[in-house]
Amino acid sequence: MPWDEITARDFPSLHKDLDGISRKTMEDHYKLYQGYVKKTNECRKILNEFDYSEIEGNQVYSPLRAVSVDYTFALLGFKNHDLYFGHLGGSGGDPTGRFAELIDQEFNGVDKWQNAVRKAASAARGWVMVGYDLNDGSLFNYIMDTQNLWAVYNMVPVLAIDVYEHAYAADFGATPDGRGEYVEAFFRNLDWDHVNRQLQQAEAARQGASSIGAQEQVPTV
Ligand SMILES: [Fe+2]
Repeated sequence: MPWDEITARDFPSLHKDLDGISRKTMEDHYKLYQGYVKKTNECRKILNEFDYSEIEGNQVYSPLRAVSVDYTFALLGFKNHDLYFGHLGGSGGDPTGRFAELIDQEFNGVDKWQNAVRKAASAARGWVMVGYDLNDGSLFNYIMDTQNLWAVYNMVPVLAIDVYEHAYAADFGATPDGRGEYVEAFFRNLDWDHVNRQLQQAEAARQGASSIGAQEQVPTV
């Protein structure tokens, strides 16, 4: 399969003093991200090298099954952290721009979404992903227990909160209160422009898909 190797990116948030989230936490966290890059490439190599005419496909256990499932964990570990590190390093504050406009409609008030996303962050075991649905243009706070569970297809992540303990235990303590303080710190450091750029791309993709659909409809006589 024609897969290129992925590489770890550098992020401005790693070279700044964030408010509440220490450099040590960010540096250690980045090492985990590098680990996901390495394992993604390792999985791709194995998947490339399988002889698919000979390999066993077995639902209980097979190397094909194991590496294909763990590949999604590695790849989404890369993707989720790419967004996470990418949109930290901002000046925080309330949501702005198109994102604020959409959540205001979707949740009947920006303040209601803010409460909802904070509660989602306390209910998730791994991530909260605010995602834009390419099918109907809605936004939803996905509660994800790991990076590869429970998002849906055609969802484009626009905001990602890592709530694994490694993201906050050293700075705030591995307690529910510690997590709550971390989530507040996360929002104090969020770059809303980055979130809005993600959303802009998602809306453009949806618009593009619907215009292609319209072109394909041949009028009947
Ligand atoms: Fe993480």
